[in-house]
Amino acid sequence: MKFKATSYHFDLLKDNDRVSAFFEAINDYSGNNDLAYDLGCGSGVLSYFLSESFHKIIAVEIDSKAAECASDNLNEFENVTVINSDVLDCNFRQKADLIVCEMMDTALIDEEEVQVLNHARKALKNGGEIIPKAIVNFAELVNMERDYIHWDENAKYEILSNTVNYSKIDFKDEINPDFEKDIEFKANKTGNANGIKITTVTILNDNMVCGPTPMFNPPLLIPIDEIDVKCNDLINVKLKYIMGQGIETVSTQIM
Ligand SMILES: C[S@@+](CC[C@H](N)C(=O)[O-])C[C@H]1O[C@@H](n2cnc3c(N)ncnc32)[C@H](O)[C@@H]1O
Repeated sequence: MKFKATSYHFDLLKDNDRVSAFFEAINDYSGNNDLAYDLGCGSGVLSYFLSESFHKIIAVEIDSKAAECASDNLNEFENVTVINSDVLDCNFRQKADLIVCEMMDTALIDEEEVQVLNHARKALKNGGEIIPKAIVNFAELVNMERDYIHWDENAKYEILSNTVNYSKIDFKDEINPDFEKDIEFKANKTGNANGIKITTVTILNDNMVCGPTPMFNPPLLIPIDEIDVKCNDLINVKLKYIMGQGIETVSTQIM
C-alpha cells in the first residue's frame, strides 16, 4: 500500500525500526477487539495496522494536511474514522480497549504525549492497554562540542560517567509534567564535563522494548556548567524540565 504523507510524516514512515516496533506491538492485539483510539495519527500508518484487529478505530490528528492524507490513505477501511482535531478538544464518549499514542520524544519534553494521555486516559476500559506502555530515562555525564541543547544526530561528545536510570513513567498513571531530580553521576574517566546526555527507552508492551531510532527519541545533549572530573568523582546535577512544554524548559544546576 502506498501512503500519502507530509514530508515530516514521510520521514517517520521511512524509519523502519520505529514503524516495525509499533507494527509488532499492535500485532499482539490480533483477535476480536472493539475500539482503539490512534491519537496523533499522522499519515494513519498505525490505524492501518490496527484496522485488522479492531471493529472500530478513531484516529485523531491536529495537523489538517496530515489528517487529509490519513483520510485518503484509509478511506477504504470502513472501520476507521479520521478526525482533524486537537486531542485535548475531544470528548471521548466511548471507552477503548487500546489507546495508541505516538507523540513521543526524548524524555517526553518536546511533544504533547503527557498532556494528551492525561486527557484521554479516562477513555480507556478497565483492563485496556496503552501503546507505548511506559518509558525509562537514562542520563550520562559528557564532554560535548556544542554549548547549547541539541539532539545527538551528527554531534560529537565523549561519555565521562556511568549511566544512571533516573526516571520511569508508566502511561497508565496520571503524569505530573513538572520534572525535577538530583542525579548523581560517578565519573569513570578524567575530563571536562560540560553536559549530560539523556536517552529514552520505550516499553511498547510487556514483550517489546525499543531504543532510540533516527525519528524516535534521539538522545538529547544538555549543557551544564563546566566541571573538571576525575575517575570515581561523584557529581550531582539537578535536572528540571516540563514535559510537553519544549526543550526551552530544560535547566540544569551542579549541586
Ligand atoms: C510523532 S508523530 C506520529 C504520527 C503517526 N502516529 C506515526 O506513527 O507515523 C505525532 C503526531 O501527533 C500529532 N499531534 C501532536 N499533538 C497533537 C494533539 N494535541 N492532538 C492531535 N494530534 C497531535 C502531530 O501533528 C503528529 O502528526
